Amino acid sequence: MTIIVNTNSNLGRADKKEVKQNIDIKKKEKIMAIAKVLGLDVGTSNTVLAKLEGEQINYTTIRTAFLDIEDMPMFKNMLNRQKIPFMVHNKKLYIIGESAIETAGAYSKEVKRPMKKGILVAKDQESVMIMRHLIETIVGKGNGEKICYSSPEIPLDEPDFDTLYHKELIGKILKDLGYIPMSINESHALSYSELVKYNFTGLNISFGAGMTNAVLTINGVPVVTISVAKGGDYIDRMTSKMQGITETIVQIRKETGVDLTAPKDNFEQALVFYYKNLIRFVIEKFIERFNASSNIFIKKPIPVVIAGGTSKAVNFNKIFTETLNELGKLPFEIETIIMASDPINTIAKGLLFAAAESETK
Ligand SMILES: Nc1ncnc2c1ncn2[C@@H]1O[C@H](COP(=O)(O)OP(=O)(O)OP(=O)(O)O)[C@@H](O)[C@H]1O
Ligand SMILES: [Mg+2]
Repeated sequence: MTIIVNTNSNLGRADKKEVKQNIDIKKKEKIMAIAKVLGLDVGTSNTVLAKLEGEQINYTTIRTAFLDIEDMPMFKNMLNRQKIPFMVHNKKLYIIGESAIETAGAYSKEVKRPMKKGILVAKDQESVMIMRHLIETIVGKGNGEKICYSSPEIPLDEPDFDTLYHKELIGKILKDLGYIPMSINESHALSYSELVKYNFTGLNISFGAGMTNAVLTINGVPVVTISVAKGGDYIDRMTSKMQGITETIVQIRKETGVDLTAPKDNFEQALVFYYKNLIRFVIEKFIERFNASSNIFIKKPIPVVIAGGTSKAVNFNKIFTETLNELGKLPFEIETIIMASDPINTIAKGLLFAAAESETK
């Protein structure tokens, strides 16, 4: 098996998205613990690494996507000229990340994804190979550092999903690279990044692309956790069927900033319908699971944290509250709804803090 990795650069230009954020932690030991570890949010649409540099958190994002084209000199030359990173395997050229999406557009091809509905397509060797390469590209080689990565529960609506194998495979890739992996649910990561002043107590929901994950944490301990195999991709898929346009077009229009409280046409109305449908489904499933868990009694109102790319839609919080009200009450009072200010990166940040926490115990 030969794998040739083009060493032009590690990431495609468009993937080198680095957002720096000052951290608001005064304790020196805490900063030192964070400096030694990494947080990796492995997502169906985006894979994000959080890492401390100086006293700032640095995020690197790569789109969890790839494109394979024929291994021909003219393609290689073109990719080299444009400094697009690629690898060669079994007579195919593989481009990963945002560059794959751009190149797919140029060749009128469909971009492929190594993950579907929140988990790695493990039966497909190509997807596993790409994921290994993608993770290596973003995290590099390790030297015994702890890394906390995100992994989902078995989704309630897809009970046959092998999330355990997914978790194992990602852990193995990280171990092979020289890290000490640990993993938590991505909604649990939210309590580390968004609920510090609430003593890590609240309902945390991450609305991603392939999945939505929710967890109730009390003093940092996950008490009720659910995953459902529905997220932004579900909204795209359903709206595309309803409107007779491709999912890619739905996604592009959706991401331009549709105001969910003021749909302008049939397309936007369909989008709002499926957003509400998703929110309702998640809340109903959470309440079912909560009620099935015995003896949870929450005396005081608690916050609800909302994050994930799907929550970036304009007025998502209003639609969320409206849907909650339509459904009646949650089994506890809500103190406030916290919309994460950086909805995608905050998960990687929480994973970074979780890794640091496990080091200091
Ligand atoms: N401005 C926006 N408005 C609405 N949706 C958006 C916006 N930006 C991104 N999204 C959607 O967010 C989703 C990606 O979010 P995120 O990166 O949190 O998912 P992920 O972590 O890759 O997926 P998962 O956790 O389900 O595996 C996609 O469905 C994308 O279309
Ligand atoms: Mg995610």
